[in-house]
Amino acid sequence: MTTPESMDHQGTTARPWGLRTLAVHAGQAPDPATGAIAPPIVATSAFAYDDFDVGERRFNGQAPGYVYSRFANPTVAAFERKMAALEGGESAVGFASGMAAISASLLGLLKAGDTVACVGTLYGGTDGVMRSLLPRLGVSVRHFRSVEALCTGLEAGTRIVYVETPSNPTLEVIDVRQVARMAREAGAISVADNTFATPCLTQPLALGVDVVVHSATKFISGHGDATGGVAVGSAELMGLVRSAGMGQLGGCLSPHEAAMLLRGLKTLPLRVDAACTSAEAVAHWLQSHPAVARVYYPGLSMHPGHGVAVQQMRRFGAIVSLDLRGGRAAARRFLDGLRIVTQAVSVGDADSLACHPASTTHHGMPEAVRLANGVSDALVRMSVGVEDTEDLLADIAQALARV
Ligand SMILES: Cc1ncc(COP(=O)(O)O)c(C=O)c1O
Repeated sequence: MTTPESMDHQGTTARPWGLRTLAVHAGQAPDPATGAIAPPIVATSAFAYDDFDVGERRFNGQAPGYVYSRFANPTVAAFERKMAALEGGESAVGFASGMAAISASLLGLLKAGDTVACVGTLYGGTDGVMRSLLPRLGVSVRHFRSVEALCTGLEAGTRIVYVETPSNPTLEVIDVRQVARMAREAGAISVADNTFATPCLTQPLALGVDVVVHSATKFISGHGDATGGVAVGSAELMGLVRSAGMGQLGGCLSPHEAAMLLRGLKTLPLRVDAACTSAEAVAHWLQSHPAVARVYYPGLSMHPGHGVAVQQMRRFGAIVSLDLRGGRAAARRFLDGLRIVTQAVSVGDADSLACHPASTTHHGMPEAVRLANGVSDALVRMSVGVEDTEDLLADIAQALARV
């Protein structure tokens, strides 16, 4: 019988599995004990071992087997195998949230005296780690506005080069192939936050990146009912991330959440595809609306990152941001006028969501930095869900009429 552990990404046919097949089958198979197709939720904190010697050898890593769910758990392991397969990585580590995955990846790979180089705009929480947590621990962080700035400013000996693409909330598209090459030449580890693109649109590891991180709370869950994170990369790097993240920081993913994320992943390619179709329609439609000063969407030919997006994204994503004429007051009227689109800060749900980044996700960013990063008071971010395109367009049109 095929067991989850014996499943590879090739399946039984000669041809490697496509993304939709991987999303359904990779990393899991019917439970050998019961035949259950859905992965059993192994809700236990510890695992019994037969005798003293087995316990000692499992703890030393000399014998296979689970010992304690903070270190590893079968349901979490199935999620990790599926994520590794989807991102094309050797190994993955699941976490309690995206921020747990990001901070554990950074803390697992850095020491005092190291330098991190960040490129472009980052999610507010990540920006906080870069501007406050890491400097307090003796890590220098340098911020580069663009890949061009990184080209001239990246110093040899930098430990990590960190990017997020497309970025939150202005949808900057960073050329990850170029960043990964520059990082390698400088002897640095490249880390990419792939939350907005998902492996359905971009696989950073195939473009040369060393570590991919995700807020699994977003598209991976897809239903707004689970919180999680994941890091994917080589077995060597993930060993460092796991020992810091689980052994010392302890931000482990619960088996209940892992089961939710596994369920969400089955439909990831279908949901992302449907949302991209609507997002493309919404972005094009918004472009000619008189209340809208600017639309940020990598699929638009006027978007500064369009050329790179064509190279590294299969489609252009489900997030559309817009600057409204009339500043914060206009943004407030638009958001308060939406009926189908819900006001909330997350992204990647089946439900369309919209928020005002300046007063929510990016409120902690110093104002000058926020404005320099294009997060104006007039900016609204929309995460397009899987509702009917025509219904979304009608809802957005009636809310814009109030602006
Ligand atoms: C791009 C990006 N990365 C990381 C995070 C943090 O993820 P979590 O909220 O799951 O900790 C977020 C949250 O919004 C995000 O948008």
